[in-house]
Amino acid sequence: MKHMTAKSMRKALKTKWIEQIYQKDSVDSTLTWAKEEAESCLLANRNTVLFLADKQTAGKGRFGRVWDSPAGENVYMTLLLLRPPIEPVNAASLTLVMGLSVAQAVRESAGLLAGIKWPNDVVLAGKKICGILTEMRIGKEKPEYVSIGVGINMNQTDYPPELQDKATSLALQKGGAVCREEVTARVLERFEENYKCFLKTQDLSLLKNEYENLLLNLNQQVRILEKDSESLGIARGITASGELLVEDEKGAVRQILSGEVSVRGLYSYV
Ligand code: BTN
Repeated sequence: MKHMTAKSMRKALKTKWIEQIYQKDSVDSTLTWAKEEAESCLLANRNTVLFLADKQTAGKGRFGRVWDSPAGENVYMTLLLLRPPIEPVNAASLTLVMGLSVAQAVRESAGLLAGIKWPNDVVLAGKKICGILTEMRIGKEKPEYVSIGVGINMNQTDYPPELQDKATSLALQKGGAVCREEVTARVLERFEENYKCFLKTQDLSLLKNEYENLLLNLNQQVRILEKDSESLGIARGITASGELLVEDEKGAVRQILSGEVSVRGLYSYV
């Protein structure tokens, strides 16, 4: 498989919104790398910088998990937004904005019916194709930067036994390899558009409809796993700040904070 380079990525992008693209063949984690470079990006007055790697040796997942990151097949990237004009409390919603952008881009560029499992997993045929992890450094009041780490399973066709029923790739679902640059470019273009919408209201109000259209949990039973308890309910949508609305059997609706609980569908991964 051809290497993805900063040059090939730049060529595929139809926009100049991303000011700088860095690429490495191998890195511990593009999130850690972006954090290391953030200071010099701030000094250079950059707003938007992309970090891409062909392979990660210590890919980070949510809840302290490891993100398996073999070479040459997938996309591991971190989008670094410097001094974003948002309040720190709203930054977590950018994870949902990225999830939406990935699902839209996969539909457009690979023609596959990707959906979203709340809050930000992108799913095809009941299995995960993308994970997103967002980090932030807060300055005096505003974030100094927000880094959005995105891993998309593109052309990997072999998964270790423990991932086989949970993970899939665009290539497996499509029945052939996809162009990593093309899909990634569409993700970034969608993100640019969605992020601009987000900035208008500082929340997901303008994106909520589209997000809910792609939300696989919508009107489905979900099991909410909390620290010491479990409950069932029906997912009814999201709030403008990205909480999941869950209706219990008495008709009462609760807002579930992202990160506070895990939501599992009853019978499948979704
Ligand atoms: C999840 O657990 O669903 C989130 C996975 C996030 C993986 C991506 S790959 C690029 C970036 N660098 C990392 O170390 N993690 C994120």
